Amino acid sequence: MIGSLGDPGRFDVALRAARDCLAGASRIVALTGAGVSAESGIPTFRDAQSGLWARFDPAQLASEAGFRADPALVWRWYAERREAVRRARPNPGHVALARGAHGGRTPVAVVTQNVDGLHARAGSDVIELHGNILRTICLERCGQRYEPDDLLPAGEPPVCPACGSQLRPDVVWFGEMLDPAALLRAERAAAACHVMLVVGTSGIVFPAAGLALVAGRAGARVIVVNPDETELDGQADLCLRGPAGSVLPALLE
Ligand code: OAD
Repeated sequence: MIGSLGDPGRFDVALRAARDCLAGASRIVALTGAGVSAESGIPTFRDAQSGLWARFDPAQLASEAGFRADPALVWRWYAERREAVRRARPNPGHVALARGAHGGRTPVAVVTQNVDGLHARAGSDVIELHGNILRTICLERCGQRYEPDDLLPAGEPPVCPACGSQLRPDVVWFGEMLDPAALLRAERAAAACHVMLVVGTSGIVFPAAGLALVAGRAGARVIVVNPDETELDGQADLCLRGPAGSVLPALLE
């Protein structure tokens, strides 16, 4: 069933059906993507006009080869995004997920593709599949990760205090594996949940998108929250077409 905010009657029917799904659920997982942070002012990746990958080249800015070719350029791009993330605030969608369902009695476990840390700042228990833009990691993989630091320089990538190599943003770039422990925890949560909310993701990047399929195959009800169509709509029991900042508070209140 599809309910769109543009058609309030149908939207209310779909919203009621979604609330019914949640009513009996004690294990709820939200799989989120860039759209959940759009209302905090963070651009998505694939929006035709404002999306990052419409304006920038991911091969240059989101791959190890691109970083090695021009570390300063890539570092400056991430420094700008880091500043935007620091200025941003969690929006009502993040807050609703952090508060949980059933008047806050049932937590919503969040698995996110986002690197902005806004779910954690809102208070969610979150698995960050694609890393965190505020952290850095040693490029040569000496194993050192560094937590957010206000003193990170904006111009040149800093040097790893442990081994002297360059540091890079601790985000997953194209062609790289996700942290296996984080992915395993996410797969277990997806396989064990009663309801999966798929919020603000185009659903085209795997393995993250596959978590919705894991949940559905294991018998969970899958509810997509997104103003637009997604690749995962066909796997969903319900699609609530509207922005996360309005739909999630209404769904979880
Ligand atoms: P995309 O940019 O692919 O998709 C964003 C989705 O958010 C779209 O489906 C939009 O319709 C939806 N959207 C926009 N505004 C919204 C709002 N207010 N409320 C709800 N939804 C809204 O972003 P992701 O699916 O997150 O990977 O992209 C997945 C991965 O691709 C990212 O994690 C990133 C990127 O390359 C890495 O950096 C590794």
